[in-house]
This record gives sequence, structure tokens and C-alpha cells, in this order.
Amino acid sequence: MDLHILPLEKFKPRINDESELTFGKQFTDRMFVMSYKAGQGWHDARVQPYQPFSLDPAAMVLHYAQEIFEGLKAFRRPDGQIALFRPIDNFRRFNHSARRMCMPEVDEDFMLHALKELIRLESDWVPRSEGTSLYIRPAMIASEPMLGVRPAEEYLCYIIVCPVGAYYKGGLAPVKIWISDHYVRAADGGTGEVKTGGNYAASLYAAREAAEKGYDQVLWLDAKERKYVEEVGSMNLCFVCDGKLVTSPLHGTILDGITRRSVLELARYNGLAVEERALSVDEIFAGVEDGSITEAFGTGTAVVISPVGQFTYQDRTVVIGDGKTTGKVTQELYDTLTGIQYGHLPDPHGWVDLL
Ligand code: COI
Repeated sequence: MDLHILPLEKFKPRINDESELTFGKQFTDRMFVMSYKAGQGWHDARVQPYQPFSLDPAAMVLHYAQEIFEGLKAFRRPDGQIALFRPIDNFRRFNHSARRMCMPEVDEDFMLHALKELIRLESDWVPRSEGTSLYIRPAMIASEPMLGVRPAEEYLCYIIVCPVGAYYKGGLAPVKIWISDHYVRAADGGTGEVKTGGNYAASLYAAREAAEKGYDQVLWLDAKERKYVEEVGSMNLCFVCDGKLVTSPLHGTILDGITRRSVLELARYNGLAVEERALSVDEIFAGVEDGSITEAFGTGTAVVISPVGQFTYQDRTVVIGDGKTTGKVTQELYDTLTGIQYGHLPDPHGWVDLL
């Protein structure tokens, strides 16, 4: 398929002060879009000016949430070059989500090519200061106007990009996590491992309750026993337990995070034992109290690595360390991962894809 580059007539004002960058509010001048129709397949791939879609009010995504998305980043390196981090893994996961949501798959190599073209055109938008990056959001929506419940026959696939600072206002400051004993995010056989908007919409109610109580995020437990740690919605969770890295296994209800995967690979590469196993709330509380759990952190593209300062479950709270300081293992993994992403460290794993 050819990729058409449409002319751009108006440029948005650039961000002068990169310290003012927030997450996901300011988008660049252009976007990638392609259309799909049953019988015709993907067509009309173009990089065009960033602009609103015109969607029929009956578009199926607006009613039945047939939607998937991805999140990845481009980083500015010291020599000015731009690097993508494991982008093909995101397009593979995009197709995994597409299959589960009965949506058409995309050509992963073509998507990567289109993304690179988009970023080359928008390269001025890739910020330069430490901790900043260009966040990339590929998405697919069912655009067919039809109110029957079945997979749509028309779709739009698009990529928008935005310069971002830290996801949490506090940067690498430890977050406070509320463990929900009532709400659940995903059950076996559901769509928990799929990057689809509905999972996030369904998490908002509990997130609002957590925010009202002064917490940063909700930790979801398994839907069956309400006992085992699953994920935090915008991140997977890891614990440093008896000097090993422990995280929940992938069994269909949690997202197969690319940062999670990278952190586990880095840990193993650095000689740190990794255990992917079920971890219960009781074990977390007992482990923090008896000193066997020394650190906890979340991983995600947007957050990168986010230390956890405390967990609250029902009326009990445990504080990790002093609740304010980033642990040694967390800091080392953060430094190594971001060092590879920003090009300060070599990339022995072949994760970096230079533009
Ligand atoms: C990401 O980390 O890229 C995500 O997709 C989480 C998000 C919902 C902000």
C-alpha cells in the first residue's frame, strides 16, 4: 500500500518551555490515518493535517466500544537522533487486540513505516529535555454507521503523537496505591489483556473513589478469589521480594506490558532472579512488614517505572521504606531502561529502532 503525504498549510505554535509539558494534551501538526472496508481491505493510507474526524452518530465505536489502541514513545538522543523503543512489539500487540475485538489486522511493517514517516515529518516536535519524549498513540475504531451488534465492516486506523513530560506530576516520586476489595477490572475469559478502551472506561469509577480518598491509582485484584495482585490499569506491578523480582503471570486478565517485558529481561540480564507468580495481598502486607518485600514499582509506557510508596487495603496501610524514597533496584532498572531509550547506554537487546 502507498502512503500519501498530504500538504500541511497551518502550523501550530511550538512548545517553548518543555518543563510545562504534561501528558497527552497537546498534539502535533499531523496524523496518520487509513481506512478499511470489508471487501476492500485497508486503503487510503495518508499522513494528513491533524484534524477532527467526521463520524456518523451511529458509528459502531460510539455504541459498542469496538476500539483498540497502543502506547509507545520516541526519544531524542544526545546526538539529536530519534529512537523508537520496541515499536514492532506494539504493532504485534495491536494485532493481538484486533483479533480479540473482531477487528481487521494491520500490516505491522507498514504501520512501522507509516509511523516513521509521520515522526520524520514531526521531528521538530520531539522534545529535548530530560524525561520528555514523544508519546505515540495508534488506535483503531469501528466507523460503520449501524446499530446492530456485530463486528463492523468499516474502520479507521490512526496514529496521533504528542510531546510529553512525566505521566505523574511528581515525576519519579513514589505513588500511593489503593487496593480495591470491591471493584474488579477483568475476569478470566474477558478482555483484560486487550488494549481496548472499555477496560479503561470500566476502571474510572474505582479510580475516582481512590482519588477522592487521596490515592494515585487503584490496584486490581483477581476477579475470582479477590486475593491476587493483577495490575494497576496504567501499569503492571513488580515487587522486590527476598532480593528477587516478583510479578503477576500473564494469564489473560492483565496486559502483556512492553515495559514489564523489558524490565524482566533487564533484570534477568543483570543477574536478578525473576519470578512470574501469583502474589496475594496478604503476602504483600506480611512481606512489607517482615522486611522481605523491600520495593514495589509499576511499569508502563506512559509511566516508565513508577515507585510505589504505600498500599492501602480496607483499613490497613503498609509503607514501603520511608514511603518517599525510590528503592535501589527500582532506581537501577529505571536508569538502565531510560539509559537505553535515550541512548546514554548501549542496547545489547536490540530494542532501539532509530529513525
Ligand atoms: C501506556 O502506558 O502507554 C498506556 O497505554 C497507559 C495509558 C492508558 C496512559
